[in-house]
Amino acid sequence: MEVNSIMNGSLPPRKFLAPEIILGNGCRSLIGQYVLSLSGRKIFLISDPGVIKAGWAGEVADELNSREYDVLIYDKVSPNPRSAEVMQGAETYIEEGCDVIVAVGGGSPMDCGKAIGAVVSNQCNVLELEGVDEVALPAPPIICIPTTAGSSADVSQVAVISDEKRRRKFGIISKTMLPDLALIDPETTVTMSPELTASTGMNALCHAFESYVSNASSVMTDMYALEATKLVSEYLPKAYDDPDNIMFRDKVMLGSMYAGLAFSNASLGLVHSMAHSLGGYLDSPHGECNAQLLEHVVAFNYP
Ligand SMILES: [Fe+2]
Repeated sequence: MEVNSIMNGSLPPRKFLAPEIILGNGCRSLIGQYVLSLSGRKIFLISDPGVIKAGWAGEVADELNSREYDVLIYDKVSPNPRSAEVMQGAETYIEEGCDVIVAVGGGSPMDCGKAIGAVVSNQCNVLELEGVDEVALPAPPIICIPTTAGSSADVSQVAVISDEKRRRKFGIISKTMLPDLALIDPETTVTMSPELTASTGMNALCHAFESYVSNASSVMTDMYALEATKLVSEYLPKAYDDPDNIMFRDKVMLGSMYAGLAFSNASLGLVHSMAHSLGGYLDSPHGECNAQLLEHVVAFNYP
C-alpha cells in the first residue's frame, strides 16, 4: 500500500506555498520595520481578550505607536470566530481607514483577521467565501504573530470561521489567505495555561499526522510532517510539565510551524472534518475536539 509519496517511486507535480517567515525569540519586536516596508499607516491590530490580558497585543501596539503608527485594537473575537465578528471587523476596518492587518494571538484572531482581509477586498459576506479558491481578490497586507503553538494560521492558506446561525464551521481555502509575514516568536507561548498548551499542541500533532497520511501529501510536505510529529510528541508533554522552559517552548513552536507548512499544502483528513463539525455544533475548543477524535480515526483508517 502506498501511504505517501516517499514510498511511491514517481515524483508527481506538487506545489508548495509559504509566507515570509521570521522565527526566533524576540522577533516580534521587528513588527515596526515590517509595517514600514508595507507602507502601512493605520494598523488594524486584531487580538482577543486573553492575549490582551497576557500583554502581547499591548506590547506590539506600543512598538507600533513608538514609530508613530496609528493603531486600532479590535478584540471582538470568540474562541471559535463567528461570521458576524468577521463582518463587524471588516466594517470597522473600512470605517477607520486601516491599511494593514496585524493579528496577535492564537488561531482565532489570526483566522478572523485573514477573513476580515478577504471581506474588505472582495466586498462580500464572509459566507460567500466558503470553499476552495473562492477569494478572487487578495486581502490587504497581513502580518501574524502567533501566541499559541498549534493552529499555524500564520503560515497556512486556510481560515476557519463559525457560521453561528447554522451551527457549523466552514473553511476559506485560497492562496490569497496566506499571510504576508509570520513573526513566530516562541517566547509568546509561555503565558499559555497547561490546558491551552495541551489542546493547541494536540492540534499541531493532528496537523502533522493528517497531512502525512493525506492523499495530497508530497515529498515537500512529508519532510515537515515527520519532523513535526517527532518534535511535538517529544516536547509537548515536557512543555506541559515545565511551562517556563523556553527550550521546550521553542521545540513545540517549531513543530507547530512544520506541521502548519505540511497541512497547508497537503490538506487534512477525517479528524479535522469531524472536529469542525463538533466544534461548530458545540462551540468546543478545536484542539480538544481533535485530540478526542484522533485515535478513533486512526483505528478506522488503518486497514
Ligand atoms: Fe487544526
